[in-house]
Amino acid sequence: MPDTVPPAGPAVNGKAYNVVDHYYDVIVVGAGGAGLRATFGMAEKGLRTACITKVFPTRSHTVAAQGGMSAPLGNMGEDDWRWHMYDTIKGSDWLGDQDAIEYMVRHAVPAVIELEHYGVPFSRTPEGKIYQRPFGGMTTHYGKGIAQRTCAAADRTGHAILHTLYQQALKHHAEFFIEYFAIDLIMDPEDGACRGVVAWNLDDGTLHRFHGQLVVLASGGYGRVYFSATSAHTCTGDGNAMALRAGVPLQDLEFIQFHPTGVYGAGCLITEGVRGEGGYVTNSEGERFMERYAPSAKDLASRDVVSRAMTLEIREGRGCGPLKDYIHLHIEHLDPKVIHERLPGISETARIFAGVDVTKEPIPILPTCHYNMGGVPTNYHGEVVTLKNGQPDSIVPGLMAIGEAACVSVHGANRLGSNSLLDLVVFGRAAAIRAAELVKPGQAHKTVAKDASDFAIDRLDRVRHAKGSMPTAALRLKMQKTMQANCAVFREGKVLAEGCEQMNALWAEKADMRVSDRSMIWNSDLVESLEFENLISQAKVTIESARNREESRGAHAREDFPKRNDETWMKHTIAWCNEKGEVKIDYRPVHMRPLSNEVQSFPPEVRVY
Ligand code: FUM
Repeated sequence: MPDTVPPAGPAVNGKAYNVVDHYYDVIVVGAGGAGLRATFGMAEKGLRTACITKVFPTRSHTVAAQGGMSAPLGNMGEDDWRWHMYDTIKGSDWLGDQDAIEYMVRHAVPAVIELEHYGVPFSRTPEGKIYQRPFGGMTTHYGKGIAQRTCAAADRTGHAILHTLYQQALKHHAEFFIEYFAIDLIMDPEDGACRGVVAWNLDDGTLHRFHGQLVVLASGGYGRVYFSATSAHTCTGDGNAMALRAGVPLQDLEFIQFHPTGVYGAGCLITEGVRGEGGYVTNSEGERFMERYAPSAKDLASRDVVSRAMTLEIREGRGCGPLKDYIHLHIEHLDPKVIHERLPGISETARIFAGVDVTKEPIPILPTCHYNMGGVPTNYHGEVVTLKNGQPDSIVPGLMAIGEAACVSVHGANRLGSNSLLDLVVFGRAAAIRAAELVKPGQAHKTVAKDASDFAIDRLDRVRHAKGSMPTAALRLKMQKTMQANCAVFREGKVLAEGCEQMNALWAEKADMRVSDRSMIWNSDLVESLEFENLISQAKVTIESARNREESRGAHAREDFPKRNDETWMKHTIAWCNEKGEVKIDYRPVHMRPLSNEVQSFPPEVRVY
């Protein structure tokens, strides 16, 4: 069906907004690694695919991924997909779904080779093979040795992959709607299916209804609920929030990864690859304290372990600097040639954001919010699932989610470094394969009710005309400070409860939001206000889920419940948030069975490194 462009100025729901209708087989929201892999995979299979993105594709946050993508290629020593599977399950603290994890690790080697053939300029060994570095928690022989499994393009791997995937998408004639802000999903009340998405073209102010057989949320994480984050300002989890507003729950939001090495004060990422190349952390006494916390893996223990150790050192008065509030990361002992070849990006970051010459002095660092293990629950095909009529794996028709927006769940309670780029590519591809099975190219669209987009347009209109007294930036800062103070590396019931109260008060204060710019063209005040509404619903679910989970597991460290409790808590949290900000919590079981009989289930163990 051709796109239809109505004459200018018709009123929608009594409001004067131009709305343009588009009809596609599939609509992908987001153009990071997962979104692009899905987009061109679908286009390649003959599906008419639209990719809607609020930033230019090569500015998506995948561009900031540094250290690499895991795959047991075995280029730099022995490796095996079963070891990778074990490491990922152990890293997840046994909350990851073992079927999905098997799917991911078994597709890792072909995914890297495929990327190489598409043109990703991986670093090379002297023999010309893809270079692989050690990363935290990646081992051989089920925890006995250190694996070199992370395939790297210097320390700009995400940048290299993102550009290559965008070129592939252009080659396959995928259609892009760039700098379009997705407002809300179009849901069919009859069968609960997703039928499309409403988006705002930031450049000319028009509104667009994208009708599709499938909508794929590839809109990334929501790191910006925290004050200090390695994520870009654009990481506001817009897809997650759209799912919540459509009545779809989010899963495991209490599990937030704090990357040990964010630049003190600025939050920018210093890749774990630094420790993979031989870097190490010290306290104010110059002690390599990780030897006490993780005697075998030391600085290459998993991220949650290193972040907690650093936080404890600071708390116990052994932080560095005049305020004793950061840790030192050293690479000045490394050969400058290695730094130049393999870590050029972080050398520049350290110089600009910390004023440090990494060949001569340590980098001041702090654990910084980096990744959301939780997201929209899906199966390993990328289809969104929910708990319905007692069925924990009920499919939400017409809706998929991939990448950091999704919770497949391959990362469980804690993601291993370099498993994220892998997740993006493997499940972006899986979604394309599934879409081709579900949708026939050019299939007729089900008619949606005339008022199906009113919900989105009403919301836009309400926020656009918000006349309160609190600027959005002030509300956002309050939310970020509350999350940082009450729901960070260590958590405690009383502090979480206080945080929940503050978040309730902030939700009420949202009614007093002020948007000063009423225009529809490049209105960043309105964009940030819509993003704030998205962020606060995820912040609420995160902190309520953290208060609810009375155990410690992976990145969720409760000081009042310091042990993992498999008997009660080996289950995924799923949570809904309604328009009043009320959060409802339920659970889905963890999938303990692998996908094939070529590997056994890995039963829970005590997690030590
Ligand atoms: O440290 C890093 O390079 C980050 C990688 C990741 O989060 O996977």
